[in-house]
Formats: sequence, C-alpha cells, structure tokens
Amino acid sequence: MTTQTADSADQIIIFDTTLRDGEQSAGAGLTVGEKVRIAHQLGKLNVDVIEAGFAGSSPGDFEAVRRISHEVEGPVICSLARAVPSDIEAAAHALEGAANPRIHTFISSSDVHLMHQMRRDRETIMNMAVEAVEKAKSYVEDVEFSPMDASRTAPEYLYAILEAAINAGATTVNVPDTVGYSNPVEFGALIKGVFENVSNIDRAIVSVHCHNDLGMSVANSLAAIENGARQVEGCVNGLGERAGNAALEEVMMAIVTRPDHYGVYTGVNIREINPTSRMISSIFGFPVQYNKAIVGQNAFRHSSGIHQDGYLKERTTFEIMRPEDVGWRGETLVLGKLSGRAGLRARLSDLGYQLTDEELSNIFVAFKDLADNKREVTDADLEALMREQHRYADTNRRYKLGKIRVVCGNDEMPTAEVSMTTPDDDGRKVSSEGTGPVDAVCKAIDSIVDMDVELTEFSVSSVTEGIDALGEVTIRIYHDGSTYSGRGSDTDIVVASAKAYVNAINRALMINELESHPVSGTV
Ligand code: KIV
Ligand code: ZN
Repeated sequence: MTTQTADSADQIIIFDTTLRDGEQSAGAGLTVGEKVRIAHQLGKLNVDVIEAGFAGSSPGDFEAVRRISHEVEGPVICSLARAVPSDIEAAAHALEGAANPRIHTFISSSDVHLMHQMRRDRETIMNMAVEAVEKAKSYVEDVEFSPMDASRTAPEYLYAILEAAINAGATTVNVPDTVGYSNPVEFGALIKGVFENVSNIDRAIVSVHCHNDLGMSVANSLAAIENGARQVEGCVNGLGERAGNAALEEVMMAIVTRPDHYGVYTGVNIREINPTSRMISSIFGFPVQYNKAIVGQNAFRHSSGIHQDGYLKERTTFEIMRPEDVGWRGETLVLGKLSGRAGLRARLSDLGYQLTDEELSNIFVAFKDLADNKREVTDADLEALMREQHRYADTNRRYKLGKIRVVCGNDEMPTAEVSMTTPDDDGRKVSSEGTGPVDAVCKAIDSIVDMDVELTEFSVSSVTEGIDALGEVTIRIYHDGSTYSGRGSDTDIVVASAKAYVNAINRALMINELESHPVSGTV
C-alpha cells in the first residue's frame, strides 16, 4: 500500500473524478457495470487516481467502488467521504480490495456554507475535519482532505484548516473552487498563499478541483500549476456538477503542448484521450459539443480556404497538436460486406478491443447486418457497434427488443408493431398508434413494460457522414423521481430510437434494483 506521490517535483498527478463528480451531472446515472468499464478505460489512459464514487452515499456507489478496487489495477482508487464516521467506514470497506486505496474526506469551510448549510461554527468544523482525517488515516495511508468552497473561504481559516488536516495525516490537500467563482489571477494567488502560509505544506501534495460555472475551470487549474499545485482534479469531457469540472483532456494537452511554459509533465497515455472521451460520452449519454477542444468532432478540421491551403503546405501553420497523438483515428474506410471474421477481429484489435470467440460471433452478425445496409463500414461505425454490444451485455436478462414493423407516411396514421421479451422470458407482441413513428414505437413498448415512464429528451446524431450513416439516438426518461439515459444505434432511426428507449428502461431497472437491495458490507 503506497501513498500517491509524484515521481518528481515536476509531475502533475492526474485525478479523475468522472465517476464521482462527473456522475453528479444532472441527467447522468450509471450502472455499476458501466462504471467498471469506464474505470478500466481510465486505467488505459493511465490517470494517477480514479475517484470511483462516494461509497457512503448509496449501495450502488459502494458496489462500484468495491468492484473497481478489486478489478482495476494501476491507478490509486479513491472514495469520497463526508467528514462523518459512517462515510469514512463505508469508504474504507469499499476500498478493501484496492492495492492503492485513498480516502478523500471533505467538509465545507466558507462562512456562507458554515452559516446556512452546516449551521456550525469554525471551531466545530475544524474539529470534525481533524477527526475525519485521523479516522481515515486509521484505515489507509493515503488520505486527501478538501475544505469545500475553499475559494470563498476566509484565507486565514483556509490556511489553518489545511495545516490541521496535514498534522492529522492528510497526504494531499485539495483546494476546491466549488462554485466556479474564481479566476486565474485570483486562484493562482490563492495557491501561492497556501504555499506561503501553511507551515507544514511541504508534507502534502497541493491539489485543485475547479468547477466551470464561469468557463474558467481549466484556466484556473493551470494557474494553480503555475503556482505549485501538483495534483489536478477534473472529469473527461468536462462533466460534473452544474457546468462541470475542469476538462481533464484540456489540462493534459495544455501541459503536453506547452512544456516551454508550464515546465511539468504527466504520466497519462494521451493516445487514449479520444477513445476515453467517446466511451464516456456514449455511456453518460452526453454528446460532446462539435467545437470542444481536443475531443470535439471539429477540433482538428480545417474549413476555410486559407487555413486549408496553409495546412496542406505545412501542417504546423494551423495545427498545434497532431490529432493522432490524442487518439483520433479519422474516418478511414476499413471494412465492407465481403470482409470476414479475421478482418473484423484484426480491425477491432487495432481499435483496442480484444474479443473472445463468442463476442466476435455476436459482433460479426451485427457487422454483416450493417455492411448489408451501408457500403462502407468505418472505425466510427465499428465503435458504435461495440457500444451497442456492450449495452446489450450490460442489460442482459431485462427487456429485449424483437421485431419492429412501422407503417407511416404523409396520409397514414403512424402505427408500430413491436415484439419484446420481458425479464420473465415472456414473449409479447403489441401494436400502437402514435403522432409519429417514434411515438408509436415508444407507446407500443410502454404497453409491454409495466413502468411509469415519461420520455423527457430525444436526440439523434449520425455516427458518420452520408445518407446511409448509422444513426445514434440518445433518450432520457423520467421514472420515480430520477432521470435515466439510454442509447441505441441503427441505420434506421426508428429502430435506433426503440433500442435507446428500451436501453433507458433497462438501465432504470438495474440502477433501482441495486439501490433497493443494499449489498452486504454496506454500512
Ligand atoms: O466541488 C467540490 O468542492 C467537491 C468536493 C467534494 C471536493 O466536489
Ligand atoms: Zn466538485
């Protein structure tokens, strides 16, 4: 068991909180299996710390932290815990299987939080912080402490609580800009102040955790690095509470692209940035904005004539990073309807998927169906097929879509006939009318599924370009006070919509099942 330390004073520890703060994004909600899959991918990206969840918050989070601790090797595995004994005990139990566990305990420190939310005075909060760190330390060597809302905390109190936490055993002290209020000049100065005023700061790593309410989270994180912070927390694609956290891919690439300025490095495998971004976008059901830095579809596309001319003469005229360095694979034509299993296996392996024979057989059937409908099957199509396979594997034994027939037109009442198997293996077939083909399909599914579900969001995007493109549908449903997302892809968008709707229903069932059946070991 080790404490996460940097190999040198110039290494930035990359702390990924996509599975914790990222999952706090409104409308998110992942199954345990999805979290484990993301954690494996974060392992490939080689982040230093994975905050796998908040074990004390729910049985689902406890189970995710527990499984990730057992299954994901490499990074430190961390659980969040409020500064209360039961949370710290839950974190410690969930982390038992981890080779390098970390407990991250936090408590509010700003006067506005103390007065209105905690309703406790500074001294009481200070004692709670110290007791929490000491309790966490009795379980694990690696303890992180966060004073929540640090950027709006009175500096003298912030310095004092950090000093006390380090004396109690914290090995990392985190300075969160919880409400995204700060700016780079101010936040850089705050970090400088921490180094100058916390007498034992040389015994801990200084971390930052910046939210993006004013769009400055990455700039604030980088300003903190300039002033000595050596751990940066954030989420892939900038996910997180409200406007999100610092987008980790942007922080990483700023460091990699501008060593002349920052003079630091990270151990991340930047070629995994794009695959990680796409997987997380797909599982969370949050599309990445087209012009998003590093991972947006347009991030490396040159459109104007002058830019294209310069780029073609010399790439560096208009490109400061190479797309392949961050794992862009382009839209290379790879396979077609005459391709065989060996070709498919080889291409998928190039894309990072190692399949068993059974998995290959399943994906081969889907691939042949797609190749029949689509002349060119690109890497992006193959990745969409793999996502579809994973969705089915994750929701196995739930509702399964069978055949779909739809009649519609400009002078027809849209009608859908849907057959499905239910979790008790009961085959059902139902017809329904709707305002359009998607509505008719969803109504038919509703009459088979015995659940009160409201469709709240529906969006379609195409995986590649062209009239024969694979359409990917994202759906959000509201059920029993929570929102769940679902995705489906197909060359027929009505079929893709049905798949997405059933996927959302299955995910709601799975997430609810775990929440209502606490796992053994939960405290
Ligand atoms: O934003 C925040 O302050 C947090 C803490 C729990 C670190 O997420
Ligand atoms: Zn946060």
